[in-house]
Amino acid sequence: MRLAPKEIQTFRDDFTYTNSAEAIRRFPFPFPEDEYRYSVNIEPHEPKDGEGSVYENLLDIDEHYLSEMHERSLVLKEMPHRCLAMDHMELASWDMIERCMTSMAEDYPEYFSLTKEGEHWTWENKLLGIKDDFIFADSDSLPMPPLEYIGRQVQGDFALLDQRDGDLFMDAGIITCPADWSLAFDAGMSFSQWHGPVPMAHKEGIFDRALKYLTAIPVGKPVRRLNWTLTVNARMDTAPENYHEWGHERTSVTPENVGEKVYLRVELQVIDRMPRSNALMFSIRTYLMSLEDIVTNPQWAQRLHRVMKTLPPALIDYKGLSRYHSTVVDYLAHFDQTN
Ligand code: HEM
Repeated sequence: MRLAPKEIQTFRDDFTYTNSAEAIRRFPFPFPEDEYRYSVNIEPHEPKDGEGSVYENLLDIDEHYLSEMHERSLVLKEMPHRCLAMDHMELASWDMIERCMTSMAEDYPEYFSLTKEGEHWTWENKLLGIKDDFIFADSDSLPMPPLEYIGRQVQGDFALLDQRDGDLFMDAGIITCPADWSLAFDAGMSFSQWHGPVPMAHKEGIFDRALKYLTAIPVGKPVRRLNWTLTVNARMDTAPENYHEWGHERTSVTPENVGEKVYLRVELQVIDRMPRSNALMFSIRTYLMSLEDIVTNPQWAQRLHRVMKTLPPALIDYKGLSRYHSTVVDYLAHFDQTN
């Protein structure tokens, strides 16, 4: 069943965000084993888990579409630099327009349509009430820069990576819901530089292997991986720029509120080669699920308990969980009787 977008819910202030039963069912639970360690967990981005799964399409549009697009517009209004494209990334931005518009119109024809007459394109987004005619690759023909134009209409953050000298450089992106990292800070950095703060993985050779894999991705063969962390409250925008808004919330978790306050935050990351610019499009599609909703699935509850209990201290620290990790483990222990 296809999930129709709901009315706008909030990821800040009164936090009205909720998941429907179907959204819980299709949640990309990220743990294949009882212990979690970093690995080169990359696989082809091909459909799996049947109709309605988050892996069905290149870009997953779900019930949170309107809410996430609204949240993005709030962030960009306060901090326009959360969308940034260096001059040499203009062609990559147009590649992204083509890739997103084409796949969204094909996969969700009830919401989006694209018509092309040569370079004259017409894009309609029925969910946001947008209909624009423009000339492909002519940035003056759009109401705003191309990356911002498409980024405001697709769920998930996006980085565009320039590939040169066998390395990747974060030279463009629209990042309004990061898990504690900053596009403005990382802009222009190479693959190993922007991964600098990540513990353990560098010396295990994970980033060297991942970079080799990524730089060899051909056009039309996207790959994906899952990443995860925990977040307090259903807050999408946990950027360092905004730390004063959310950092203190880590001290607000108690045994009484942990189930509703702590969210498992999963990123479905898709990496796709762009045909004209040779850039990589990196999409980070974030799914938030409260622990209360997670434990409605007994297998997830048991596994999450075991993963949390055995998480290496360096990861607890890096992911910012130190203040409430033990409260989470105690809560989940109730759902893992055999342990
Ligand atoms: C973390 C970006 C691909 C593994 C991060 C961070 C960023 C990032 C910005 C946060 C670093 C910080 O703390 O400031 C990207 C981009 C990629 C990419 C743009 C696309 C080319 C990969 C791949 C792997 C990977 C292919 C596979 C091994 C990780 C890991 C972390 C991380 C393990 C730590 C996450 C955590 O524990 O929460 N990445 N990444 N990344 N990345 Fe990547």
